Amino acid sequence: MTQQDIDLAIHILKEGGLIGLPTETVYGLGADAQNALAVEKIYELKRRPKSHPLILHIGKIENLEFWATQIPKQAYKLAEAFWPGPLTLLLKKSKNTPALITAQSDFVAIRIPAHPIALELLNSFEGAIVAPSANRFGKLSPTSSAHVRKQFPKGVDLVLEGGTCEVGVESTILSLVGDQPVILRPGMISSQALEYVIGKLVISPAKVNNKIQVSGSLPSHYAPDTPVRLLTAPELLDYLNSSKTIRNKSIAYLTFSTSLAPKAKNLQIFEMPPDAKAYARCLYEIMYQVDALGFEEIIVERPPQDPSWIAILDRLTKASYKSGEIKPDEELA
Ligand code: TXA
Ligand code: MG
Repeated sequence: MTQQDIDLAIHILKEGGLIGLPTETVYGLGADAQNALAVEKIYELKRRPKSHPLILHIGKIENLEFWATQIPKQAYKLAEAFWPGPLTLLLKKSKNTPALITAQSDFVAIRIPAHPIALELLNSFEGAIVAPSANRFGKLSPTSSAHVRKQFPKGVDLVLEGGTCEVGVESTILSLVGDQPVILRPGMISSQALEYVIGKLVISPAKVNNKIQVSGSLPSHYAPDTPVRLLTAPELLDYLNSSKTIRNKSIAYLTFSTSLAPKAKNLQIFEMPPDAKAYARCLYEIMYQVDALGFEEIIVERPPQDPSWIAILDRLTKASYKSGEIKPDEELA
């Protein structure tokens, strides 16, 4: 990555083009936030409904006041503690924020990403960059430049090479616009970490998501093309023994323990890290790899019910609901 690449990216943004933008979470599909035609292009290329607003990426905390208004003190505390980093704050939008990027709502989602290339670009570009994850609507988020090119062989003017994403799953989204702070999307910054900084209870998605919806009524998200099933180790045994069809199915099994995995000839084992951070970092990459191998099904061993696994469990649940899992109500792309 050279200064020339950054200059080219800025040129493309100014001309209303789209770039692949590395961040610490996942790669984004970036456009100039103030260029309506460029923002329209993002929706078109992703095939994303206009009802799904976009996250605004800025380079400095001081820029918050241009895009948001009535910013609560908590927002500054959180920004000081976690920015640049994988936290997105939902705030009241200012008149400078185009309604096109907020799905016509009064609120804007903003973050400062912790990636040297993203930061250099944001701080050289006069303005802000809207960037949803660089994947087609409902598909796997990209954690490498190769994933971005795979998702969009055409339509992206430049993919900045930023290596493999350090965090690997999308940012925690925290709403600060109601009476209480609410997590809209869990990420690797936990509700406990947020509570510690603001000294106030944060409503976490586990509580918000009590309403559950039976599968089939909503599109799946964060999903590979191969159907995904989320099972505990004992459930897997029952599943494998349940029918002849299943015993003949070619299955990829993503497990924490290769030695304890059932020895079945239709099952190919992939070992996953036991630590949540390491798991998050490689989850989408492994999904891309396994997806390309042509299995009929991917079975993922259910991670522990521990707060550090909430974001991972959320993504796996959304990826797996097509296979008959019950899916939380929360819809995020
Ligand atoms: O880590 C991330 O957040 C990545 C990187 C590229 O920054 N971005 C990302 O963007 O995950 P996206 O568009 O794939 O997911 C953002 C989610 C969407 O589900 C969207 O509905 C929600 O944030 N969101 C964005 N703006 C919002 C708003 N104004 N009000 C409510 N939800 C919003
Ligand atoms: Mg997304």
